[in-house]
Amino acid sequence: MTKVAIVGSGFIGRAWAITFARAGHQVTLWDAFKDAPGRAIDFIRDALPELAANGLLNGRTPEAVLADISIEDDLEAAVAGAAHVQESTPEQVELKRTIFAKLDALAPEDAVIASSTSAILPSTFTATLKGRHRCLVIHPINPPYLIPAAEVVPAPWTSPEVVERARAFLVAAGQAPIVMKRELDGFIMNRMQGALLEEAFRLVADGFASAEDVDIGIREGLALRWSFMGPFETIDLNAPAGVRDYVERYQGLYVNLWGQMQRRVDWGGPVLDDIERDRRAKLKEADLVKRQLWRDRRLMALAAHKRRAAGDIGE
Ligand SMILES: NC(=O)c1ccc[n+]([C@@H]2O[C@H](COP(=O)([O-])OP(=O)(O)OC[C@H]3O[C@@H](n4cnc5c(N)ncnc54)[C@H](O)[C@@H]3O)[C@@H](O)[C@H]2O)c1
Repeated sequence: MTKVAIVGSGFIGRAWAITFARAGHQVTLWDAFKDAPGRAIDFIRDALPELAANGLLNGRTPEAVLADISIEDDLEAAVAGAAHVQESTPEQVELKRTIFAKLDALAPEDAVIASSTSAILPSTFTATLKGRHRCLVIHPINPPYLIPAAEVVPAPWTSPEVVERARAFLVAAGQAPIVMKRELDGFIMNRMQGALLEEAFRLVADGFASAEDVDIGIREGLALRWSFMGPFETIDLNAPAGVRDYVERYQGLYVNLWGQMQRRVDWGGPVLDDIERDRRAKLKEADLVKRQLWRDRRLMALAAHKRRAAGDIGE
């Protein structure tokens, strides 16, 4: 059993705690605000029974998983003996710089120190550290206990051995690491999401479709395949002789679109009024929280389905 220190116990810290504890690790929660870890434990206690009911606790009981998560008030004690430190404090580069300096000084020499940052490049907050070779980003999608993909992003000085340890640690915890060869703004997933959103905003701004019709195109269309295979496997299977055949047949279609896709649309411009009107007609602002809970339950059902189908039908 490995000790994992969670530094910052908000949305992402508490979700990582579930992920690592259900994998059998001893998890310690720390936060600069003393009541945050307690709130995280309350959330975790509430979340575990439904995860167990959906077969998402590795066969462990909610009580056993909860017993593997503890609170530590002192940062030095929190990271003492840890093999992995997962920093999940607010998204501010100065804060990341300060906390990484502390973690590098306090964590055992052979511990991996990972940041959950959504968008800050690891080189910007680890450059001057003595142990910068053991620092990197592990960027999850919220919540990682339901969405396995996590981006492993090395700084230029992160050692390949540390990248490999981070990858293996995630795989052993049931996650699906995306190992970047080097850092890049937006990492992988936000770049792909950004490309899709940019086109979605443009389609609405130029009056070709409503926000709801764009959503249908993904929800009832492309995302059905995307929930179990990526765009490259999709095109490999969409032409009789595979990916090369697909490119020969269809690249022309996309080349023609590419020029039309170069113009930027201001997401905050008049198009936002249209999209917001569409969205609020379907979902009142007061119902956003209720709908977020619905989303989490749908995600849980999907995660359970994917695990079952991978076993019954094959990966
Ligand atoms: N929320 C998401 O969807 C999401 C997804 C992926 C990655 N992330 C990244 O994860 C990190 C944490 O985000 P979050 O959504 O959990 O935020 P959050 O606000 O829910 O949690 C941040 C926690 O950090 C604590 N904190 C504040 N100042 C601190 C300090 N100086 N030292 C230590 N802890 C401090 C807060 O008390 C809070 O508990 C960010 O870098 C964010 O970009 C967030």
